[in-house]
Amino acid sequence: MAIFSRTQEETPAPPSVVQTAPLATKVFDPPSAESAPADALGDAIRLGARLMTHTAQEAPQYVGNGLACSNCHLDAGRKAGAAPLWAAFVNFPAFRKKNGEINSFQKRVQDCFLYSMNGTPPPLGSRELLAIESYAAFMARGLPSGISPPGRGFPKLAAPAKAGDDIRGAQIYSEKCSACHGADGAGQRLSDDMVYPALWGPQSYNWGAGMATIDKAAAFIRANMPQGQEGSLTVQEAWDVATYIDGRVRPQDPRFAKSPQATRALHHDSPFSRYGTRVDGILLGDPATTPAAGKRQ
Ligand code: HEC
Ligand code: HEC
Repeated sequence: MAIFSRTQEETPAPPSVVQTAPLATKVFDPPSAESAPADALGDAIRLGARLMTHTAQEAPQYVGNGLACSNCHLDAGRKAGAAPLWAAFVNFPAFRKKNGEINSFQKRVQDCFLYSMNGTPPPLGSRELLAIESYAAFMARGLPSGISPPGRGFPKLAAPAKAGDDIRGAQIYSEKCSACHGADGAGQRLSDDMVYPALWGPQSYNWGAGMATIDKAAAFIRANMPQGQEGSLTVQEAWDVATYIDGRVRPQDPRFAKSPQATRALHHDSPFSRYGTRVDGILLGDPATTPAAGKRQ
């Protein structure tokens, strides 16, 4: 097995490619933010870690949903196989097809604010982006740059035997996910530190997010959910439940252009996105049924 593999970020596996997906075992162990020095940089590193886990508390003006960065980048962006920040950091600047630019690390983080957090990106050079960058750089100390270390992104998933299916997906959802994420996908908030995040509806990631594409959601879910029983779903189950979740209503793609169909042609022309298609009679991305953006609870 190759020690260094490419991430899914820039090179998604086509659905026809079948690969086994062992969960990464021997991976880099990043230092914790608490061990950062007691100086100005150390303060920024600790703020960066807190921004990951308490995004809306630390940066309310930039967050438009009920999520925190660490709901997807688990363990405050430390967990291998949950798009850890240390693995990302050593691969930027990088060209991204999604925005057609060379992206600095800060620019990459801006995109997660815009889509995954359904918010407004903090400006480049802002206190927030500098803190998240300082934290990522601190964790990545000692890693070689320019190559994807094991644990980057989500473990690649084999293609499912059968196409993703809403009926099977809904069944899996009600059996294995709804106890935490809610029958309506809205999640549950027990306190600021105890949140089962929303998977669809107004408090979830918007249509432009990576998680809104079935292949990425399936890969995340297979490796990281159900919480406490990670890795227990079959590839088919992960794919079916991802198909179901990413076929529900969620906030509008900020790149919306004229109509769901036109926006689909521009930004969602992929078998992994259901945006601009009809599911259960609802045209996904139709402004009439799309929850309003930026109303955080
Ligand atoms: C025991 C409770 C629990 C169960 C069961 C569970 N999850 Fe989660 N899920 C969580 C928590 C908690 C997080 C956020 C993790 C964190 O912040 O560390 C999360 C995060 C997520 C996320 C990323 C954040 C978001 O809101 O988009 C997705 C997607 C997800 N879960 C899907 C699923 C799916 C699909 C299932 C069923 C196969 C499932 N979960 C079962 C607790 C659970
Ligand atoms: C709803 C889930 C979700 C949330 C919330 C989220 N992200 Fe992401 N993020 C993703 C996905 C999906 C990717 C793409 C991972 C891949 O394809 O390997 C990603 C990628 C990234 C990357 C690049 C990873 C790499 O290896 O190139 C960084 C850095 C990042 N996110 C930072 C953040 C920060 C900081 C926040 C909070 C402001 C945040 N994200 C919130 C889902 C999320």
